[in-house]
Amino acid sequence: MTYNKITADILSQLTTIVGVDEILTSKAEIENYSHDETEDLVYYPEVVVKPQTVEQVSQLMKLCNEHLIPVTPRGAGTGLAGGALAVKGGLLISMERFNKILDIDEQNLQASVEPGVITEIFINAVAEKGLLYPVDPASKGSCFIGGNVANCSGGPRVVKYGTIRDYVLNLEVVLPSGDIIWTGANTLKYASGYNLTQLLIGSEGTLGIVTKIVTKLIPKPTLDALMLASFSTNEDACAAVSAIFRAGVVPSALEFMERRGIEWVIEHDGITFDLKDGIGAFLLIEADGTNQDVIFADCEKINEVLEQHNCQDVLFADSSAQKEELWRIRRTMAVSVKSNSVYKEEDTVVPRAALPQLIKGIKDIGAKYGFESVCYGHAGDGNLHVNIVKAGMSDADWNSKLKDGITEVFELTIALGGTLSGEHGIGLVQKNYMPLKYTPMHFAIWKGIKAIFDPNGILNPGKIF
Ligand code: LAC
Ligand code: ZN
Repeated sequence: MTYNKITADILSQLTTIVGVDEILTSKAEIENYSHDETEDLVYYPEVVVKPQTVEQVSQLMKLCNEHLIPVTPRGAGTGLAGGALAVKGGLLISMERFNKILDIDEQNLQASVEPGVITEIFINAVAEKGLLYPVDPASKGSCFIGGNVANCSGGPRVVKYGTIRDYVLNLEVVLPSGDIIWTGANTLKYASGYNLTQLLIGSEGTLGIVTKIVTKLIPKPTLDALMLASFSTNEDACAAVSAIFRAGVVPSALEFMERRGIEWVIEHDGITFDLKDGIGAFLLIEADGTNQDVIFADCEKINEVLEQHNCQDVLFADSSAQKEELWRIRRTMAVSVKSNSVYKEEDTVVPRAALPQLIKGIKDIGAKYGFESVCYGHAGDGNLHVNIVKAGMSDADWNSKLKDGITEVFELTIALGGTLSGEHGIGLVQKNYMPLKYTPMHFAIWKGIKAIFDPNGILNPGKIF
């Protein structure tokens, strides 16, 4: 695909559309938009615009489509797969001014929200009305709900409540042609042809730009209990995971953390945590609901399973401050690892009973290629984040040999019945690994879909495939 540069004439048309205050052109102004949270990757768009209305987005798209200018949509820039990087230059459309919660409909338990709303602000707004929007990625304090839609985000509570796929009912979307469509209906059921809402979720800004989101909400559980179980080995911790579900309990979170991850959080965040010798891994387990007796009964069942899996110790959080502290350890892990070393983040997901084999295999592959890894994540979903840290690896090995190691990690993941990403997306950095799992027929279908939505290939080029 050959793209065009943004000429002075196009720049003046862009300025007319968004207004002179909402267009950035100097390198210094654009710097913030040249990276996301993916490794140390930097790509400068030529121009950044910050529209505020769907009509403006539509006009921007029409103009870029006519002139073959690449368009990169961007949320808060917290992505871990490079999805918001303007790899072909062109125009970057920041959705930061789409920041309104439009409606919380308590009659129907639905909300309508713009994509630039910070996820946690939305969670708190519905919580004030006794409602739960359970999609809570670790970056919830800074990520945008639109970015969550684009990446099909998850978070700890997915294990009980489902991913964003289970909450988005309808989307207003601007297509590259400038057409504005609603993808579905504001209904809990949908059997009316191909489901465009689900197609858009996880499409990483390659098919259209989302300008409104209608979500489902549920009643908010009023009670929860949180426990931290410690194990000598990764495999013991991981083996307990599927056993908990087999015992008939569905926790509201079931997170795995390797010792090394906690050590780095302690170093980075100065958290006080009594990390005992001989402990190699932890499970952070939450049970929630509206009835204390039921929650206690669930915790007892979980405890029995933990004992059967060589659990060394269980800490029950006895105050909301302690719960928050434990969650803070888990949520800051990615940032702590990143701040300690050059690293690459892989987002493996397997059927949950395969977790012990996955983690053992990852460590074996690391030993073979000489890389250290810090693993943590949403074990209840079989979703393990693998942070590969450079540590003592030479630049030459890091730049050449490592990709064979990562290939082996993904080959193992796939052999265990899993896939490349559970919740971070494919974006730029994982796309070369996609043929490990998907056939030429998959690529042909995806390219066909892309061509219908975006025949000129202007929208977020260079991503997914
Ligand atoms: C987490 C992010 C990295 O779970 O997905 O911490
Ligand atoms: Zn995660």
